[in-house]
Amino acid sequence: MGKRDLGLSGKVVVVTGGSRGLGKAIAVAMAEEGARVAICGRKQENLDQAAEDFREKGLEVMTWAAHVAKSEEVTALFQEVEARFGTLDVLVNNVGMNILTPSVSEAPESLWDKIIETNLKGTYLVTRQAVPLMKKGGGGKIINISSIAAHKAAIGMGIYCVAKAGVEMLTKVLAVELARDKINVNAVAPCVVRTPFSQPFWSDEKILKEITRTIPMGRIAETEDVVGTVLFLASSLSDFVTGEIITVDGGSMA
Ligand SMILES: NC(=O)c1ccc[n+]([C@@H]2O[C@H](COP(=O)([O-])OP(=O)(O)OC[C@H]3O[C@@H](n4cnc5c(N)ncnc54)[C@H](OP(=O)(O)O)[C@@H]3O)[C@@H](O)[C@H]2O)c1
Repeated sequence: MGKRDLGLSGKVVVVTGGSRGLGKAIAVAMAEEGARVAICGRKQENLDQAAEDFREKGLEVMTWAAHVAKSEEVTALFQEVEARFGTLDVLVNNVGMNILTPSVSEAPESLWDKIIETNLKGTYLVTRQAVPLMKKGGGGKIINISSIAAHKAAIGMGIYCVAKAGVEMLTKVLAVELARDKINVNAVAPCVVRTPFSQPFWSDEKILKEITRTIPMGRIAETEDVVGTVLFLASSLSDFVTGEIITVDGGSMA
């Protein structure tokens, strides 16, 4: 079987929330494909640790401290990306978080704002800065990390479900708006992925058993399961795919 080149060598890739978990796995995979990679996160010590992990693998990464829901910090991130690389080919909007919510109707306004801001407004703010750079370079790929929580209401995750559903409609809207600019916009919706974020779900054997019972393939996702789909969407193999949401869930939504 012939090997296809993903065409990512030399491409400039920004991964938000790339200092640990899924974002880091995506950033490492992009760098292994020869891409020039920049990651952001809020905490400098997490970025420094990630940079060290990249170095140990013989890879390079640009790190920048930025909160995706803080407009001026996002602007500074992309000014630095432009100064350093001059262009942008791939954006992975990976930042996401949840705070366990007893019920949406009882949630304080501040909790609603925080979860919507980080998951949904952050995706908008980052994309808004990335698009002009991509247009300058003649096109690009935007990949938003959603969740199957966008497709099925889950107790304790109500606001997160709403935010991720918003991310998926944002994906479709941007795909239509940016199609003529040769910018593809797609999303990936995983089930539980083994990362620090989801540790409460997989570190407790009873809870893990309950979750895997709902997944036909009988296990939760590893970061590598999601990385493969992100690489596909970043590559030229998916040039005619836009506005699509790909679930990576071992069949659980089927
Ligand atoms: N893990 C799962 O089970 C699962 C399932 C479905 C979907 N997802 C989605 O997958 C994505 C990645 O999740 P993960 O599990 O890898 O999360 P994670 O382990 O908590 O990692 C989150 C990363 O984002 C950074 N970050 C968090 N808030 C940020 C903010 N406001 N601004 C900038 N950076 C921020 C973190 O660094 P700092 O803390 O230093 O900022 C860290 O690098 C999220 O969109 C999540 O919703 C995860």
